[in-house]
Amino acid sequence: MTKLITIRWLLLLSAIVWCSQAVLNQPNEMKLQNNGYTDVLIAINNVIPEDGNIIHRLKEVFTEASEELYSATKNRAFFKEIKILIPKTWSKKEEYLLAGTETFERANISCATNLVFRVDLSNPRVRPDTPYVSTKDGCGYPGDFMHLTPDYLVKMHHAVLNWGPYSKTILHEWGHLRWGVFDEYSSPGYPRFYMASTGGIKPTQCSAKIPGNPRKIVNGLPWTCRMNHSSGIYEETCHFNVYHFINEATGSYMCYQYLAEVTDFCHSDPDGDPLSYHNREAPNVHNAMCQHQSTWDVMNKHRDFASGANPPRAVDSTQPSFIMLQESEPRRVLVLDMSATMEALEAVGHPQGGRILLVTAGQEDGDPRIRDVMPDLRRKKVIVDTIAYGRDADPLLQSLAQETGGDSFFSGIHDSAALDSAFTATFGAMLEGRPTPFPVTNVLLSEDKTVSGKQTYTTRVYVDSSVGENTFFFVSWLNGRRPMVTLETPLGRMITEDDPMYDVTSESITIEIQGTATPGKWSFSVTNSDSDDQDITIIVTSNGKEPIQVTAQISDELLNYSSSQPSALRIFATIEKGFSPIIGAVVKVNIEKPPHGEVEEVTLMDNGAGADFLKNDGTYSRYFFNVTADGRYGVSVRVDNSQGDAKYVIMSIARDNNTEYADESNVQRREQLEQLEQFQRITTGGVFEVQGVPSGGVPSQDILPPSRVRDLKVVEVSYAKATVTLRWTAPGDDFDHGGPAQYVDIRYSRHFDELADDFQGSASVNSSQVLLGSLTSKPEFGSMQTVVILVPDRGPNVTFVFTVRMCDEVDNCGDPSNIVAANLEYIPADPTNEFPWHIVLPVLITIGVFGAIFVISCIVGKCKNRTKSTQPSADNNVV
Ligand SMILES: *[C@@H]1O[C@H](CO)[C@@H](O)[C@H](O)[C@H]1NC(C)=O
Ligand SMILES: *[C@@H]1O[C@H](CO)[C@@H](O)[C@H](O)[C@H]1NC(C)=O
Ligand SMILES: *[C@@H]1O[C@H](CO)[C@@H](O)[C@H](O)[C@H]1NC(C)=O
Ligand SMILES: *[C@@H]1O[C@H](CO)[C@@H](O)[C@H](O)[C@H]1NC(C)=O
Ligand SMILES: *[C@@H]1O[C@H](CO)[C@@H](O)[C@H](O)[C@H]1NC(C)=O
Ligand SMILES: *[C@@H]1O[C@H](CO)[C@@H](O)[C@H](O)[C@H]1NC(C)=O
Ligand SMILES: *[C@@H]1O[C@H](CO)[C@@H](O)[C@H](O)[C@H]1NC(C)=O
Repeated sequence: MTKLITIRWLLLLSAIVWCSQAVLNQPNEMKLQNNGYTDVLIAINNVIPEDGNIIHRLKEVFTEASEELYSATKNRAFFKEIKILIPKTWSKKEEYLLAGTETFERANISCATNLVFRVDLSNPRVRPDTPYVSTKDGCGYPGDFMHLTPDYLVKMHHAVLNWGPYSKTILHEWGHLRWGVFDEYSSPGYPRFYMASTGGIKPTQCSAKIPGNPRKIVNGLPWTCRMNHSSGIYEETCHFNVYHFINEATGSYMCYQYLAEVTDFCHSDPDGDPLSYHNREAPNVHNAMCQHQSTWDVMNKHRDFASGANPPRAVDSTQPSFIMLQESEPRRVLVLDMSATMEALEAVGHPQGGRILLVTAGQEDGDPRIRDVMPDLRRKKVIVDTIAYGRDADPLLQSLAQETGGDSFFSGIHDSAALDSAFTATFGAMLEGRPTPFPVTNVLLSEDKTVSGKQTYTTRVYVDSSVGENTFFFVSWLNGRRPMVTLETPLGRMITEDDPMYDVTSESITIEIQGTATPGKWSFSVTNSDSDDQDITIIVTSNGKEPIQVTAQISDELLNYSSSQPSALRIFATIEKGFSPIIGAVVKVNIEKPPHGEVEEVTLMDNGAGADFLKNDGTYSRYFFNVTADGRYGVSVRVDNSQGDAKYVIMSIARDNNTEYADESNVQRREQLEQLEQFQRITTGGVFEVQGVPSGGVPSQDILPPSRVRDLKVVEVSYAKATVTLRWTAPGDDFDHGGPAQYVDIRYSRHFDELADDFQGSASVNSSQVLLGSLTSKPEFGSMQTVVILVPDRGPNVTFVFTVRMCDEVDNCGDPSNIVAANLEYIPADPTNEFPWHIVLPVLITIGVFGAIFVISCIVGKCKNRTKSTQPSADNNVV
């Protein structure tokens, strides 16, 4: 039973300083009603130096973007009301309202409870000032936030030159952020070209009508592209060079939004505009994630537009109204127990943006009741975080938190009056007495133990060098006499009861390390001085300027098994240091389940399979569906790098200085991995509610298929051997759980449409065609699977398309994967050691042709200032 005390402690800390996505219905969640988005929040980070021009430009940019949004959605949506949150460090102005529930943290990556725009410093992982949306979930799910830099907003020439008109760029990003659609140009890991099943090598783009030619750029000179005989397409250094000045294609915003003619998303309506018709063959992220649906097909399933919601409507104006907010300070935090009367709530006075932490064990039993004080709280913009424990805790608590923009947490511990007063008192004291530990950014350790009489419990915690400031070791106990605590620093110094850092109250021992805690292993022992068992809780917290930080989220707050198809919950944890992701860490989630508080452990993976969107991006994910009963489920996340396997990914962008091109075609991305020292973290993923579980639990027979494969790739083709090598990441037996899937079902065809529209009717690869690898190898979840397939034909115009699905032992099969194409024509291997006429000659010709085109286009008067700016490449796309 005491296992759970820690979770409570942890949740308590977390509730104050962290947010979680557990509560999705924030009062400031953006809505689309009557065609207008309201509660759109743009937050400017505190670290941005004051610059009124940023606010001015935000207004201009979003006014333009609103108009573009309205026309792009065919009069179905525009920005009606936008809130701009100004840093509290900026000077106060009359017209600024005090922010209540909109705090910067809420617009922060770590607490992206609503969809927002962030104005923040440039992220070194993308080319300076590139607008981007951070995403970690699949097709149709919203992104986390849109990142805009001050220079992007203010340096208009620079921005338009690189990314095209603001309104279109914002709209491209909005597609990621709001509707969960993806890039339709080629991005890293996706080929820039593909062999179309209608013949010919085509660029990865949407629509297919965007004109241009393949071009290789070396030191500023265009070289002709050669075919690569082992990929069947052009060499990897080949880009598609869009002919801006003759483009007529109107789609798509998710592709080259900067093209002047692009005014549409791609659609799949055969009677619609052929110039924005979806290119479902293109091997891009969008098609891989969204099963080759068009952008509009995905958007039409979003609640903004599903079942005809927000039909086209003429509006008087698409001009958004801007509400300026400034965060008030200081933020007050009160810890309350609901057993104390609700009138205590009055004690917070009139603090806009004040914050209350309500801790309670039971049902409310006196007046005033939650529903009575709710309007008052809402009016005062007080945020209430709630922590409920005990099975009979009032469900109203969750709604109280939701409605005020707070977070709700839950622990299923049973008894607890004593516990409650213990930790309330402790934290109360902490809150009043010390300036620290707020904000607590990092909990390193949180453990509960039952220590037998007269015994000593020993544990250790790694304090890493990214933290070390304000380091606290807390020990509290439930029963019996004060235990004895000994702490040994990495340098071997013992901290015991006589030490001035050792602070004792009736319920807790706190050791606050002065200055910066030495990085390394801190050993910790707690001795029970009684002869009876004693339940103790240990918590270690520490801060740092740029700490290794873990943030956890869950995809849903409610899983309803009464409705036909409850979605499986997805759990995410992101580990990063600044903007750099941390990969290779061990991330475990404890899910505390009703009815008895049993804890299930799930390991999150960053392997790009199952619930994990992208491999090695520092976001670790997993499905969870093993529900036991109706009720609330608590999620806590533990990150452990005591093995020292984790690495820090430093990405830098270098420009080749030899090139005279102003575009980014020659940008080099350098990724460097740095081994990390030992560290550990613990955080909460919040709480979710499950309803409608059939009595006796969900059926135990195997009904879940392996997850859909989304990363099928052709890694090699061979004309000589008539083979195609396919590779993908293996899912598990049940989505991403339950051991390996049993076999793979590979289908192929000469025609894309046949395979896409008739999986069952398409030829399947049989084992006699598999030269290497196996169809029945039972691959470990997350492992790469490779098979070499003998194809029945080769030669000019011979193209095969492939798709795979994995199946379990009772033939539950996942959806078919993304479709990939292989070109089986004869391509000579690279000639070597010859004078490179094949390179030089085409270069000269190309220069001549380009020169001519340039001159002609200037004569026609269309080159303007475009010639330099918008050389297309994957690198000047927004991401
Ligand atoms: C996000 O929140 C964390 C923790 O509260 C804080 O350390 C960080 O600076 C915030 N990020 C931004 C961009 O404000
Ligand atoms: C040619 O294709 C193979 C297989 O896809 C790839 O490994 C190689 O890097 C490519 N070479 C060039 C020059 O693009
Ligand atoms: C759960 O689904 C059932 C059936 O669709 C519905 O009647 C019920 O209201 C749902 N519960 C919640 C909380 O949405
Ligand atoms: C599902 O949950 C039950 C009860 O908590 C547990 O006994 C079982 O091991 C879990 N199954 C899996 C596959 O984790
Ligand atoms: C280009 O020049 C800049 C400034 O001198 C330098 O920082 C950068 O490293 C250079 N890039 C390369 C690829 O050499
Ligand atoms: C396997 O497929 C190939 C190509 O379709 C076919 O020629 C061969 O007969 C099949 N072999 C078996 C054992 O079915
Ligand atoms: C290959 O396709 C092209 C165009 O689709 C066609 O002109 C050509 O005749 C085809 N070649 C063969 C050998 O089928």
